[in-house]
Amino acid sequence: MDANEIEKVQRTFGKVALKKEAAAAQFYAKLFELDPSLRPLFKTDITKQGEKLMLTLATAVRSLKTPETIKDTVVKMGQRHRGYGVRDKDYDTVAKALLWTLEKNLGTDWTPDVEQAWTKVYLLIAGPMRQAA
Ligand code: HEM
Repeated sequence: MDANEIEKVQRTFGKVALKKEAAAAQFYAKLFELDPSLRPLFKTDITKQGEKLMLTLATAVRSLKTPETIKDTVVKMGQRHRGYGVRDKDYDTVAKALLWTLEKNLGTDWTPDVEQAWTKVYLLIAGPMRQAA
């Protein structure tokens, strides 16, 4: 990702992070609307799960200039996700729910180039996760 894309992602994530609890709740609601069969995979409290998701995203967004520093973490996360019963196609459903959540929270800041930059971020995380699984 180039510096311009990284700046766009970091700036827009900063905005969404201001309302991260609401954004996480919207994300899971959308995810389970898109595929209700995913709901039983989540055994822990969904609010706590949302905090973990936002923390992981924050770390990834902070590390975009040095993606190799999070590669190991991402690979291990992918292996754990296989254990949770996550299937390869579920990564596409999560991508849709995540992009939808960002769009909903960013309003007019959600432009085609912001969408493209976020799609790259998702692939950066989900790519090695899927491969490791
Ligand atoms: C960018 C992609 C993703 C990120 C950053 C992410 C992040 C996380 C994190 C941080 C955890 C906490 C436990 C751990 O680290 O192992 C977790 C657990 C979990 N994730 Fe993900 N995840 C991603 C993709 C997915 C996908 C595609 C699914 C499919 C539905 C999924 C379903 C789950 C489930 C079922 C758990 C366990 C929840 C529980 O223990 O109750 N995740 N995820």
